[in-house]
Amino acid sequence: MNPTETASLIQEFKQTYGHAPVVIARAPGRVEFIGNHTDYNGGAVLGAAIDRYVWVAASPNPQGRLRLFSANGPAVLELPADPGTKVTGSDAWANYPLGVWRSLKDFGLPRPEGFDLFVSSNLPAGAGLSSSAALELAVALALLAVAGQDGLAPDQLAKLGRHAENHYVGVPCGILDQGTSAHGKLGHLVHIDCRGPVFSVVPFPSSAHLWIFNTREKHALIDGMYATRNRECLDAAKTLGVALLADLTPAQLAPLESKLAPEVAQRAKHIVGEHARVHETASALEKGDLSAVGKLLTASHRSSQHLFENSTRALDDLVDLLEKHPKVYGARLTGGGFGGAVMALTQDDFSEKDAAEISQNYSAHHGGAPEVIHLQSADGAQIIWRG
Ligand code: GLA
Repeated sequence: MNPTETASLIQEFKQTYGHAPVVIARAPGRVEFIGNHTDYNGGAVLGAAIDRYVWVAASPNPQGRLRLFSANGPAVLELPADPGTKVTGSDAWANYPLGVWRSLKDFGLPRPEGFDLFVSSNLPAGAGLSSSAALELAVALALLAVAGQDGLAPDQLAKLGRHAENHYVGVPCGILDQGTSAHGKLGHLVHIDCRGPVFSVVPFPSSAHLWIFNTREKHALIDGMYATRNRECLDAAKTLGVALLADLTPAQLAPLESKLAPEVAQRAKHIVGEHARVHETASALEKGDLSAVGKLLTASHRSSQHLFENSTRALDDLVDLLEKHPKVYGARLTGGGFGGAVMALTQDDFSEKDAAEISQNYSAHHGGAPEVIHLQSADGAQIIWRG
């Protein structure tokens, strides 16, 4: 956000609440580069923080009220105190900030008694780019600052955001989204060994580019389907006598598959294979072998499509189109699946015109064009302005 944008956010905050904010925090969305559903299975994953953000401006509320406003929403949501239960209906987005506020207490961190929050974003919601994690992290940094604490170590910030999502929003997600948004670094991918979790960064090749093709398809059952896959994986690990599925190599899993129901065996095969692919991708990146990286990305998609069964016709069609393109190294669904977006890794000379051709081809069969975004990697969550 450049200074003019900061000024306009401050202005909007003043118009909404009648006084100025004391802080603005910003957190990036992320792409899941590779490592589909590996995180809560104790596996590895590579993600990239992206230059699409959630901004949160905040101030204390002297009456101890909790006031929240989203630039996309019609009105300020005002709560006299912690409602204790989940907010429902069109204000349900408030469960993320409220969950973070409650998590600050769970973590023994300072939090304001009351607050005024203003949320703005240029991250498409429901595209699998982690607008929820970005919201959680920006709210956490903003509320900590309002309570007098300047920042939080990225590992802690990621754990706090995940805690809010697991315990107060109710999604049994892993650490990928919050970990990538917290640890993001311009020109880099974030590698997470989710068992620790242990975070590190690896250079993103300067000659390659990331593009998003968002189907805008939002699966009505997405949260339920995500939780089902999560349960299937944890149960499979139990049946096989390991703590988490990533404890097994593909060779170790093969003779055990018959112990699992056929469908569950497929889920396990996906996780174990995907964990191995993340390692192969990291070493191909180290060697600068982008065509090997691309093949691994597309293999990841095929595994999601056929084994984990969290893809959709729209996502598969986009990957089919992208895979055939000579300037595309590889493509795959990114994030939870069951809708959302495809990520493509492309050569330097892949252009808007190439992207438009792919979109046109896709629209011919799907009725509407995908939203196309050319992404850059970005730095992680941070405070960008103090009053
Ligand atoms: C969502 C979850 C993550 C991860 C991905 C799939 O983004 O929030 O924790 O499980 O799906 O890899």
